[in-house]
This record gives sequence, C-alpha cells and structure tokens, in this order.
Amino acid sequence: MAEREKILEVRDLSISFKTTAGNVNAIRGVNLDLYRGETVAIVGESGSGKSVTAKAAMGILAKNGQVNSGSIKFTYTREDGEKVSCDILKMQKKEIREHINGKRIAMVFQDPMTSLNPLMTIGKQIMEGMIWHYKTPKEEAYKKAVKLLELVGITDAEKRMKNYPHQLSGGMRQRVVIAIALACNPELLICDEPTTALDVTIQAKILELIRNIQKKTGISVIYITHDLGVVAKVADYVNVMYAGKIVEKGSIDEIFYDPKHPYTWGLLSAMPDLNTADSRLFTIPGSPPNLQKPVCGDAFAPRNKYALKIDSRVEPPMFKISDSHFAATWLLHPLAPKVEMPEELKKRIIRMKEEAAV
Ligand SMILES: Nc1ncnc2c1ncn2[C@@H]1O[C@H](COP(=O)(O)OP(=O)(O)OP(=O)(O)O)[C@@H](O)[C@H]1O
Ligand SMILES: [Mg+2]
Repeated sequence: MAEREKILEVRDLSISFKTTAGNVNAIRGVNLDLYRGETVAIVGESGSGKSVTAKAAMGILAKNGQVNSGSIKFTYTREDGEKVSCDILKMQKKEIREHINGKRIAMVFQDPMTSLNPLMTIGKQIMEGMIWHYKTPKEEAYKKAVKLLELVGITDAEKRMKNYPHQLSGGMRQRVVIAIALACNPELLICDEPTTALDVTIQAKILELIRNIQKKTGISVIYITHDLGVVAKVADYVNVMYAGKIVEKGSIDEIFYDPKHPYTWGLLSAMPDLNTADSRLFTIPGSPPNLQKPVCGDAFAPRNKYALKIDSRVEPPMFKISDSHFAATWLLHPLAPKVEMPEELKKRIIRMKEEAAV
C-alpha cells in the first residue's frame, strides 16, 4: 500500500466565544488527522462543536470567536506541483480568501439556499470561482461548469446553466452547491450536514454522489453529521465529538463493531433501526454540559451510567485500542472494572454485522 499522505492535521485546538452571558469554551483541545483521498466523519450531538471545528479549518470563525491554542496544518499542492504546508490559524483573512477558501478547501452546508445567490443563474455561480481564483477564460469556465453539472448528476446541463436556484428542487440545489464547491478542484471538501434538509431518498442519492466524486477525483472529505446512520455510507474513519472534544476515533468497523466509549454506545443505540418492531427511539439521557463553566473531569460523566469515581475529578486521556482506534474513557484503564456495552446494543451490532456480510 502506498504511504498515506496527511492533508490536514489539527492539534490541540481550543476555541471560545465571547457572549453577553460569558465565555463559551466550545472547542476544548481537538486533535484530528485527515489523509489524502480519505473521508473522515465528525459525529456528535447538537452543540458538540462539529461546525465550529470545520469553520476553523476554513478560516471562517464567527467574529466573537477566539482561538486560544492550537494549529491547523493544511498541506496542498501548488500550481507548480510543489507541496506547501500552512497553518490556517496563522494566516491573514485576505490570504485565506485568496489562496484557500473555495479554491483549495471548499465547504457544502446544510441548507443549499444559504450558499446560493437567488439572483444569479446557477451557471454563473459555478463559473464565478474559476474566473476569480484562476482567471479561467469565460468559454473554458462555461465548458467546465457544464461538465461539473453532469458530474453531479444533473441532466440537461446546458439548459440548467441558465436556471435560477428557485427553479430547482432541494436535492438539485444541493447538487449545484456541490458542483460549485468542486469548481476550483479543491483538495479538501468539507460537508456540514449536507443532507439534513433533504428527504430520505434524495439524502441517499447525495451521499452516493459524494462517495462517487471522492473515488473519482481522489479529493479528501470531512463529513459532518449528527446521524451515525449515514456515516458508514460515506466515511473511512470516524471522530466522535462531545462537548468540544473528540472522545473516540477509529475506522468505520472499529466504531460500529467495537465501540468503547459509553457516549458512542449511546449514539449507536440512538440510531433508527429498521429491523426491530420497536419504534421507540433510545436517546441518551440528560443534556450536554454548560460550556460557560469549567468542566471538571470527564464531561460525559453526569450522563454516563458506567461512570467511575475518577470521572468526576480527572479528565480521561485517549487510550489506545489499535493503531487507528482511540477512546477517552477511564473504563479502558487496566485497573478499571470490566464494563460491557448494553445487551441491546450487542445484539444490534451482531445484526449490523450480519447485514453487512450479505
Ligand atoms: N458565534 C457563536 N457565539 C457563541 N457561541 C457559539 C457560536 N458559534 C457556536 N457557538 C457554540 O459553540 C458550541 C458548538 O457549536 P457547533 O455549531 O460547532 O455545534 P455542532 O456540533 O455543529 O451542532 P449542530 O449539530 O447543532 O450543528 C455550541 O455550544 C454553540 O452554542
Ligand atoms: Mg453544526
């Protein structure tokens, strides 16, 4: 196997937001790696810090946001073929706009309407970035835009070039947003809940599209979702986030078949299961901590029925399970009592394995 090349390396990232009610410590020491041509998912409950992490990597933090520590090293290939590394957090806004945003890192958001200009034809919107970033001649940009529309599965591409966003369905609009994102051949695509606003069938098609594009173009992808159910369809690796930290990371198989963190157990148990008659969905009891206050020990402890005494005092480190699998829970300490995942989840994992084997 060829050596994996790291494209993004986030280290010890801490971000807080100033609000009238005080400082919100939204990101509390995130480490994340992404290799070229691979897809990592970031999953976690609402408010866990997924979008803030992604926005930091794009250099588009909100004005009241403040980076307290860390680095975001991004390695890209310059036009002359040279590999260049930069720390997004050390760059000027202008530099990011000119060299990174939309050019080498592109982002797809949940609601396509927020990223589309209602007053401009979709053709113009796809061509815009190429003309601005690369001074691509108009005719060439037009041809490429048509090709991109075809790539994202829009039929009658030439005709569609003249359409305005409101003339398209929600699923089509999201395809257009993906075409715009791909227009400048970015090396990293960040998708933040790109299918949440779409219905289930369209959602599946968009997921398939992202996966296909990834395979075809070799682009690296960060896929953000609160729904573990979609993760296995798009990602190679998973980062599970809670209260501004990554608490478990591993390959798809490690997270789905051998999860170690009780929070991951909760997320897996909360996935809708089409195969059981029981339609009552499990939800993790309680709610996330208030990040305006300092967190003492393991942030998940108050909601964790397997919590140990030490959890309320000392934050667990990332324990290593394999070269790619890590989890921050004291349950993995050699001296911790043996605790197994809930019976229900065990059965469910056996079912998932059986389904995957078919
Ligand atoms: N501009 C801001 N000002 C104040 N607090 C903010 C700001 N942006 C984000 N936060 C806070 O940071 C935390 C993380 O937010 P983030 O948007 O990253 O969550 P998320 O995991 O993307 O959630 P969701 O699944 O709902 O999109 C939350 O507590 C949120 O309230
Ligand atoms: Mg979000």
